[in-house]
Amino acid sequence: MDPWLLVYDGCDLAQEGLREALTTLGNGCFATRGAAPEARADGVHYPGTYVAGCYDRLVSRVAGRTVDNEDLVNAPNWLPLTFRARTGDWFAPDTAEILTARRTLDMRQGTLTRLLRVRDRLGHVTRVEQRRLVSMDEPHLAALRTTLVAENWSGTLRVRSALDGDVVNAGVARYRGLAGRHLVPVRSHATGGVTGLLARTASSRVEIALAARTTLAGPHSSEFRAGRGWARHDLGVDVAEGREVTVDKIVALYTSRDRAIASCEEAARTAVTRADSFEELLGRHTRAWARLWERAHVTAEDSDVQQVLNLYVFHLLQTVSPHVAGLDAGLPARGLHGEAYRGHVFWDEVFAFPFLAPRFPEITEALLRYRWRRLPEARWAARQAGYAGAMFPWQSASDGREETQTLHLNPRSGRWLPDNSHLQRHVGLAVACNVWRHHEATGDGAFLAGPGGELLVEIARFFASLAVREGDRYAIRGVMGPDEYHDGYPGRAEPGLDNNAYTNVMTAWLMRRVLELDPADLGEEERRRFSDLARRMRVDFHDGVISQFEGYGDLLELDWDAYRAKYGDIRRLDRILEAEGDTPNRYKASKQADVLMLFHLLGADGLAEILTGLGYAWDRAAATRTVDYYLARTCHGSTLSAIVHAGVLARLRPGASQPFLIEALNSDVRDLQGGTTAEGVHLGAMAGVAVLFEGAHPRNAVRAADRCG
Ligand code: BGC
Repeated sequence: MDPWLLVYDGCDLAQEGLREALTTLGNGCFATRGAAPEARADGVHYPGTYVAGCYDRLVSRVAGRTVDNEDLVNAPNWLPLTFRARTGDWFAPDTAEILTARRTLDMRQGTLTRLLRVRDRLGHVTRVEQRRLVSMDEPHLAALRTTLVAENWSGTLRVRSALDGDVVNAGVARYRGLAGRHLVPVRSHATGGVTGLLARTASSRVEIALAARTTLAGPHSSEFRAGRGWARHDLGVDVAEGREVTVDKIVALYTSRDRAIASCEEAARTAVTRADSFEELLGRHTRAWARLWERAHVTAEDSDVQQVLNLYVFHLLQTVSPHVAGLDAGLPARGLHGEAYRGHVFWDEVFAFPFLAPRFPEITEALLRYRWRRLPEARWAARQAGYAGAMFPWQSASDGREETQTLHLNPRSGRWLPDNSHLQRHVGLAVACNVWRHHEATGDGAFLAGPGGELLVEIARFFASLAVREGDRYAIRGVMGPDEYHDGYPGRAEPGLDNNAYTNVMTAWLMRRVLELDPADLGEEERRRFSDLARRMRVDFHDGVISQFEGYGDLLELDWDAYRAKYGDIRRLDRILEAEGDTPNRYKASKQADVLMLFHLLGADGLAEILTGLGYAWDRAAATRTVDYYLARTCHGSTLSAIVHAGVLARLRPGASQPFLIEALNSDVRDLQGGTTAEGVHLGAMAGVAVLFEGAHPRNAVRAADRCG
């Protein structure tokens, strides 16, 4: 088994979405799912191209309410390419019999190769080899080489190479009740050997231009046509049985957000006109990947594990490559690989920074600058809510306003429900943590004296104003921790929880960091308050463990065995309980690591230092008790949970970490969250796996046999 290759044999319609997501190619500026070039979105295939930072907002009516959602836009499709043998049908998923099929993602080179033998309804058998790339060297270019061999026929082979702007966002079934037509066709052309398409996003008015040049060596006919939202180039060539024909499609994608262009339409056209041959593009692209891998490679002893590590690092770098240094884009939780979570930016980058900051500080700086540019919006949000400093949104997209949905659909019950997850104020603490990690990795004093420090101080100001003095402690009320299955108290009308331990401890941590930094613009009074908070944040305990939030100890125990016996997979316990007319808020049952995030981010010693600094008795036995307690009460409804549990247990009780490590490794490659990878990969978990393996702890403990278990 070559750990640099991910190979899929045959066609498996049920797995097609997953395969498309995992064979996505991208370069940090845009990415394209590994969909077949002859396929349109049809419920099985889902071609998707997503441009970093390109969002659009639409208004929808659901459950009698008007909601608006900002989506990462599915851009015009550059892939379409099909062929027809003599008078046979154009090759499409439903017009031919697939005799053999193999798809190979080469992670070292950054290419996707497809080998097919197909027979049309008239019996023409054609062999197809396709290779594509999304250039890591020239981030506006992509290329598709198709080699066709007429196996049992001679005559005219026609090839159709097109650009398709008739594309909507419809990749996630549960969002289909929401508006998804983000693209407005502006114009198309097919002249001078180049096809081109210009579309505009409906409300953000970003122009997206595609241009393509399709070539075929030797004598052939060419016909160019364009219409509203499409452009195509038909080529015709006489082939003899057994002879190869190679067609190269070179594509350029620009948007009006790009720099150093007069217009994106002209830039795309010029770029494909000037672009080199497929071989030259491939050579430069492969060398660019080789340079990335020198900095990014993480090793494992087992080749199965190595393959997964390569895959996860590959997808991380395809979403945030060094090219993001020239962009204004955050880290979308689901990559540029699908439409889940609408391409929004959450806190997941906190799982990627430990991997990226030492290796690619230009990437982590770019991600922090994405936040820094949105400081004015975060300040405004804090002000509106009655606080100081900067309140970052739980979900962020174009301008940094809160993008969290206010309603979400439980597919199990069919009900639209209020969504309170914007109360996850802790996202700001993750941004602060990332500033610190970037600083530790780079020692870049200039960044810390500038945007980094500004972020830290403004976030600290927000948490300092969120905390209220109650007796000799500071409390934070009405928030949510990372565990999304608890968003309030049973019987309390207002959503939100009090004294989430994660939020409170990280607030104390942040106050310490800011005081250490000692920024000049911190007033005396602020300094006093920050140091008070560093010593007096409240943390609740029950049964000798940290309480996830105040009152957690009073919740009911869930009958885990009964739920497992009844439902099997109970990761989405929230949906199960809601469909039963119940709520996780009543139970000691967490979606994901919450208290354990403290161990993950601070380490057992770091956490002990903060807790004892706050005046709480804390020792190793309390740490072990706390970890075990939540281990027994977490259903891992987020892929991030296995990462945290694997890492925390590896340090505290190595024997127990193995199942989580295996779960983390399998999360996307085996789509453990049941169909969600098809809608976009889980970048936080992917990065988290790389971090787990670069550390000394569990690194070589996983054998292939375990992974397949
Ligand atoms: C998790 C969050 C995460 C988000 C995006 C949710 O399911 O609970 O912690 O940030 O997914 O990945």
